[in-house]
Amino acid sequence: MADEKTTQAKTTKETTDNTETTETTRRNFLKYAWVALGAVALGEGALVTYQFFAPKASEGEFGGVFNAGLVDDYPPGSVTPFNAGRFYLVRQEDGGFLALYRKCTHLGCAVPWDQAEGKFICPCHASAFEADGEVLNPPAPRPLDRFPITINENGEILVDTGSAIQRDHPHADDAIYA
Ligand code: FES
Repeated sequence: MADEKTTQAKTTKETTDNTETTETTRRNFLKYAWVALGAVALGEGALVTYQFFAPKASEGEFGGVFNAGLVDDYPPGSVTPFNAGRFYLVRQEDGGFLALYRKCTHLGCAVPWDQAEGKFICPCHASAFEADGEVLNPPAPRPLDRFPITINENGEILVDTGSAIQRDHPHADDAIYA
């Protein structure tokens, strides 16, 4: 009889211990979940703060807006490099303007304009592009990207190097006219 009582007491104690262990585990889980949530919230707050205060590209720097000067400074059929802006300002024979990103669409090498050949030729794997950016020679998979241009009321050409536009092929409406 005494043995039976002892066994019963043991079982009750074990059950109580198990319940406490489960409670402790649940409490720990909740504690860690709150800590993790707090860390995520802090991380997001830090990211938003960084993005707010991070320096933006300013005018005249790559990523910002370039004032390329007056329309009349560029004769039709000309290609003018802007090294700081990483683009070429192309004035087509019909007077339209294009701003072409000099970054090769194959693997990103800087593509020089070859005046004698009348085309862009990449020094890395010999891709070639027409003056409007169209691919003449692979492996480049698509034309040179272009940057948006606006011409203001003073006849100044503004090139926004913050957003390169990818193209499957050049279009007639890519060019901007004064
Ligand atoms: S990076 Fe220009 S052809 Fe490969």
